[in-house]
Amino acid sequence: MAKVKGRQSRIENLVVIGGAPVRAPGVVWLVGAGPGDPELLTLKALKVLQGADVIVHDGLVSDEVLALATSTARLISVAKRKSRHSYAQDEINRMLVAFACEGLTVVRLKGGDPFIFGRGGEELAACREAGVVCKVVPGVTAAFAASASAGAPLTHRGSAQAVTFVTGHAAKGEIPDLDWESLGRANQTVVIYMGLSSAATIGERLIAAGRSGSTPALIVENASRDDERRIATTLAKLGVASAALTGPAMLIVGESMALAIAGGESGLDAAAIPAMGARRVSDARGKA
Ligand SMILES: C[S@@+](CC[C@H](N)C(=O)[O-])C[C@H]1O[C@@H](n2cnc3c(N)ncnc32)[C@H](O)[C@@H]1O
Repeated sequence: MAKVKGRQSRIENLVVIGGAPVRAPGVVWLVGAGPGDPELLTLKALKVLQGADVIVHDGLVSDEVLALATSTARLISVAKRKSRHSYAQDEINRMLVAFACEGLTVVRLKGGDPFIFGRGGEELAACREAGVVCKVVPGVTAAFAASASAGAPLTHRGSAQAVTFVTGHAAKGEIPDLDWESLGRANQTVVIYMGLSSAATIGERLIAAGRSGSTPALIVENASRDDERRIATTLAKLGVASAALTGPAMLIVGESMALAIAGGESGLDAAAIPAMGARRVSDARGKA
């Protein structure tokens, strides 16, 4: 190791100050990996990914994106697993801080955008509390990929003056705690993350709050991936149409989702599930 007296030099995270080697502090990058298609990764995300010593990733990050990491980077999956131990959020926070304290460049790679239902805020707070520098690289959130690939805008002059992202996640059998009255108003788009298992309840609540059962709805599973599936349906049929999907999937409800049926240039011929009240998007386009 080179020693440089009286000034500072950095060799692979070791800093020599006046002859005494100390570890330079590491950094944690919270990076949005986008919805799956590696071409939807930002240039900045790619650059940071390729400079990482350690990549701590969740299950929504696609293999194609992980393949862009350098071969020397250590990959750690903290994906939720059914049969094996899943990492609690506290454990992930501690892991990020510990690696950074070792002087490593840590990338916390998360599906979509780290600050949209991604618990990125908690990781940022844990780093700040530990005095670790934490920087954020935004990502393309799943809602953007889902609406774009279906050719259905989230806002649209005259029919979608607002868009709201909500979580559909609730304990089994429970109703998500949302502002139903506000979401029940017409001419706005409601985008539901993690809503597949509560789709029927969400549909019922929106209708009870005043939204018409005939409001167009779009369900997109695996948005931007090779196995993407899209179902164009209505609010009244949201639960039935979602039943055969396993996710990850976005539910999007709103008048402008009618455009997914009317057409667009973004590949509405992707396979959709021809079942239970849902129309194949490709069929709908052909007959429109
Ligand atoms: C924990 S949230 C993470 C969201 C992520 N941070 C984002 O910005 O897209 C997980 C939910 O995002 C949605 N999701 C994520 N990736 C998706 C994809 N490629 N296609 C459809 N939905 C997706 C699903 O609703 C899934 O249950």
